[in-house]
Parts: sequence; C-alpha cells; structure tokens
Amino acid sequence: MIVAIDGPAASGKSTVARALARRLGFAYLDTGAMYRAVAALALDRGIDLADEAALARLAEGEVITFGHPAGDPVPDTVHIGGTDVTAAIRTPEADAAVSAVARVPGVRAAMVAQQRRLAGASDTVVEGRDIGTVVFPDAPVKAYLTASAEERARRRHGELAERGHALEERAVHEGIEARDSADSTRAASPLAVADDAVVVDTTGMSVDEVVERVARLVGEAS
Ligand code: DC
Repeated sequence: MIVAIDGPAASGKSTVARALARRLGFAYLDTGAMYRAVAALALDRGIDLADEAALARLAEGEVITFGHPAGDPVPDTVHIGGTDVTAAIRTPEADAAVSAVARVPGVRAAMVAQQRRLAGASDTVVEGRDIGTVVFPDAPVKAYLTASAEERARRRHGELAERGHALEERAVHEGIEARDSADSTRAASPLAVADDAVVVDTTGMSVDEVVERVARLVGEAS
C-alpha cells in the first residue's frame, strides 16, 4: 500500500511520514530529498540553475540511493551517483536552489520514474508535493498536510538552527513563502491538493495527533 503525504514546505510532512512509517512497519520515501540531491549535485558541479537541459541530463544520468540503519525505514545517508550529499541537501544553499531544479519537466520525469521504482514494490509512506496527484494517483491513502506560514517558518527556523545555520526567522518566513509560490505556480506538476486527499491543518496540533489522524486513514483503507 502507498500512503501519499503531500503539502507545502515545513508543514510537518517529514516528521509525520517518518513516525508513521516506523509505527506501521512501512518503508519511507522522502521525494523532496531527491530533488534536493539533484540541486546539491548541480551546485557541486557548477551547473547553471537556469540551464534546464543540463539539469535534466544530470537527473536522467544519476541514480539516487538511500542508506538505512538496520531495521529503520528512515535513511541516514543519501547518495546521488557516487557523491554523498547527506549534509549538502539540508543547507540554506540547497533550500534556495531546489525550486529552480524541481520546476524542470525533464528533472521531474526522471525523479518520478525513480520514485515509482523505489516505492512501487512494498508498503511505503511517500512524502512530497505531487505524490497523490502525479506519482501515485491510485494511492489508497492521501493526506495533504498544511499549517500557517508563521508556524511553518517557526518550525523550519528551529530545524536550521539545530543544524547550526543561524538565520533570522523573518528570512526563513520569506524563503518559505517564496518556495510556496514557486512550487504552486510552476507549470510542471505544481503543488496541489488531490481531489480525494484528506486535508489536515496541523497548526496547533502535536506530531502524535497528526500521526494518529493519518494512521486512522490507513486503518480505514486496509
Ligand atoms: O519537502 P522538501 O522541502 O524537502 O522539498 C524540497 C523541494 O523539492 C521543494 O521546493 C519542492 C520540491 N519537491 C517537489 O517539487 N516535488 C516533490 N514530490 C517533492 C519536493
């Protein structure tokens, strides 16, 4: 079974999807990490982010792999080709570059093909922006998580601070709004709520409450 979890940046998708995968004993696929991996490699190789053909060639030519601690569905390493991008995908530079990469149709086609290969064979919680709409439109469970921009900026600011990136919360807020706008208005697979998705506004909800809500949807679909 595929459990599709979509929503905007810092809506709590990753935290909820990881907890849910562990609780259900499902595999877990973070598709945002895959777009981030392409962005990190493009930055590393000095590829012009406006050069769509070069970005598409990069995505088509490189396989993304996740490494896992034994028995844990949540990966602790990400490689693209031979390059370890585990740390590079979570930097402010990757944050700033990833929308330009994710809007390229050739990049998306390559990532969707890899995502279907990675998640298609087993029960998997898959998180992203277009999982319920494009990647797995037949997923029996689709949750669309959202939260106010202020709450999302607070969460992302805290995550970045934990990793040693000192940014002002206002700058994080502006970055999130810019990314929301880029993700929602791009021509190729924009962020959108699937017709049959259940929308969960996580503002003011605890992680446990959100996990419980989505786990109930899985129970109802099983
Ligand atoms: O979830 P995240 O913040 O790690 O996602 C990083 C970027 O990748 C975000 O700007 C949107 C894009 N993305 C996408 O376009 N499609 C997906 N399925 C997942 C992420």
